[in-house]
Amino acid sequence: ATARATEALQRLVVDVPDFPEPGIVFKDISPLLADHDGFVAVIEALASHGRDGAGAPVVDKVIGMEARGFILAAPVALSLRCGFVPVRKAGKLPRETHAVSYALEYGEATLELHRDAIEPGERVLLVDDVLATGGTVRATAELVERCGGVPVGVAVLMELGFLDGRSLVGDLPVTSLMTV
Ligand code: PRP
Repeated sequence: ATARATEALQRLVVDVPDFPEPGIVFKDISPLLADHDGFVAVIEALASHGRDGAGAPVVDKVIGMEARGFILAAPVALSLRCGFVPVRKAGKLPRETHAVSYALEYGEATLELHRDAIEPGERVLLVDDVLATGGTVRATAELVERCGGVPVGVAVLMELGFLDGRSLVGDLPVTSLMTV
């Protein structure tokens, strides 16, 4: 299953030079999402990180980070038979939130999580498309902890190895299907 996902990523993620700024190579996952077999393969590979050795789900919630994380995390949550929770950019969530600000690969941002979205003690898997500087994952893990939840792992399609996001993320286990 992982081999199929890796093959799909290599074939269907398109490099776009100088987007959104000169010098940045944007990884466009939309051709991958548009390919049913490729989409299924990467969702199953991501979901496997929320299961134990016998294949039983070991998480209570799956978080996706706006915006591309939503597309991946929602089907992962369904596959793991648990709930999906969105972490959103500032000002989008309508009820009481926790908020954490952090530095982006380009720019700065604030992420928010509804205070009641994670119950104390719940085990949470974080799902996103790309781990770059690690700022998004680190801020999201902090949001989960503020709710009393337990971040148990991070599953991403790709990590940008040269940015070393893993060191910012710390002890939380990160699995990526591809390193670029
Ligand atoms: C991208 C990507 C990750 C994040 C990774 O999102 O989807 O969420 O950056 O970067 P980091 O590891 O340096 O924090 P972006 O903020 O571009 O938002 P989008 O998905 O809404 O386009």
